[in-house]
Amino acid sequence: RLKAISDAIRVVPNFPKPGIMFQDITTLVSNHKIFKDTVDIFVDRYRDMGISVVAGVEARGFIFAPPIALAIGAKFIPLRKPGKLPGEVISEAYELEYGNDCLEMHVGAVKQGERALIIDDLVATGGTLSAAIRLLERVGAEVVECACVIGLPEVKGRRLLDGKPVYVLVESRQ
Ligand code: PRP
Ligand code: MG
Repeated sequence: RLKAISDAIRVVPNFPKPGIMFQDITTLVSNHKIFKDTVDIFVDRYRDMGISVVAGVEARGFIFAPPIALAIGAKFIPLRKPGKLPGEVISEAYELEYGNDCLEMHVGAVKQGERALIIDDLVATGGTLSAAIRLLERVGAEVVECACVIGLPEVKGRRLLDGKPVYVLVESRQ
């Protein structure tokens, strides 16, 4: 199953910038069986872990987090890029290759003591996931794990991000 998932990810050289090997998940999710297998692997792993909130990271984390949340009986919470959420928010900045970005979460979306799973498509430097972990921990949630479809090989071997376990299905291909 993992080989089929890896093979379904299209690698696009020099996108969006020279030197970047873009890992395109649109070719994975447009294949019903492979998309379902991908979601099912996460669902099998997390269904009996007492998780009440699945937080998805905008934008590509939004593709995988909701079907996982529905299947394990948890709520879905969007972690959004700045200025998109209408209510009161808390923010966490993180470093990009050039400049900074920021993730925001609605205050009150997650309660103290809730057990949270964070979902994104890919982990590279881990900066995005670290910001997501900080958001959830600031409101007193317990981050059970971060999970991504794709990880850079060095991240896949690392397994821990800010002390939290990171679960990755497949390594990025070059
Ligand atoms: C990409 C990817 C991850 C993040 C990983 O998102 O979807 O969210 O980068 O990088 P990191 O581990 O180095 O932080 P990006 O912000 O490029 O855009 P998106 O809105 O298309 O998800
Ligand atoms: Mg992203």
